[in-house]
Amino acid sequence: MRLFTPLLRWYDKRGRKLPWRDIGDPYRILVSEIMLQQTRVSTVLNYYPAFIERFPDTETLAAASEEEVLAMWSGLGFYRRARNLHACARVLVESYDSKVPSDPEALGALPGIGRYTVGAILSAAHNARLPILDGNVIRVLTRVFSIAGDPKSAKVNRALWRLAEEVLPEDRPGDFNQAIMDLGATVCSRTAPHCQSCPMSSLCTAHASASAEDFPHAGRRAKVTFVERVGLFVARSDGAFLLHRRALGGLLAGMWELPSVDRQGDERPQELASALSARLSLKVEPVECARGEHRFSHRHWTTHIYRVDLDESVACSPPPNELDKRELRWTYPRELDDMALPEASRKTLRPCLDGQVSGSPPAR
Ligand code: ADE
Repeated sequence: MRLFTPLLRWYDKRGRKLPWRDIGDPYRILVSEIMLQQTRVSTVLNYYPAFIERFPDTETLAAASEEEVLAMWSGLGFYRRARNLHACARVLVESYDSKVPSDPEALGALPGIGRYTVGAILSAAHNARLPILDGNVIRVLTRVFSIAGDPKSAKVNRALWRLAEEVLPEDRPGDFNQAIMDLGATVCSRTAPHCQSCPMSSLCTAHASASAEDFPHAGRRAKVTFVERVGLFVARSDGAFLLHRRALGGLLAGMWELPSVDRQGDERPQELASALSARLSLKVEPVECARGEHRFSHRHWTTHIYRVDLDESVACSPPPNELDKRELRWTYPRELDDMALPEASRKTLRPCLDGQVSGSPPAR
């Protein structure tokens, strides 16, 4: 179907120049596509260059510690992606001579790589004629062809994948995939699409019926869970404060945060803070000092932050099985950049660290 020829012409003139395009390096393309899962190009551009500089190839990434990889990913969110990427690198080194396989099935069997990512990587790296289907592509296709129904439903989704494959040109499938992503991101926007400057407008059936904004049809929205939490900022006079490592499964697995508890019932935050302080064997009453908000895709956290000021000599001896002692550490502000600290924790820490003695870690 040559329906989309104007799109390639548009891409040649107006396509975005991005650091993972036209580089012919499957590993770097793979990194970009994992980062771009659920994350905007503008955000990825703030992290990708440093990540590639630190981990320029599969061997370097495979040899790094998980803590280092998570620290470089810190702020990008959806940290399971970082763990998957790290695991991928190790499989590539062990089983694929450190190279990204060009066989779609082999690539799709690697951790965190689904059909979309296979298509995105192999079409960009080898001009393979494989389709992609993400939010941007769905928006363009459902508008051009006026496709009704929830794109997430199995039936509509199957039809869209078929269409994404049919519209791929024989000669430039790689550029075509990049082009349709760019069109969706910059012209065929969710609201107020720029139909006047769209290369597809004369072919777009939704535009013809002035109904572009009606597509794609909305599916059911996932429910948002609101969680209230209490976090303790336990500060020593030399500038160190306590961080706690989260459990290895679930949300933000294995990452660092203030010692925290979720509010389960109608306890007052002050009660929770006092109980947490007691579990850490601290004999000081915490004082509320700030409040932090963080939104994940379907979870909102409100954290009441309480402060406990200790003098330097105080040792903290939490009982095992409650807050596990091995998972607590005294941390100095300047160490944070090298730690697996999610954005939620950075936000919570910001008001606490303003005005805090910067301190230095003792020589190790
Ligand atoms: N989103 C996912 N992959 C992308 C890419 N290669 N370019 C721009 N946006 C993207």
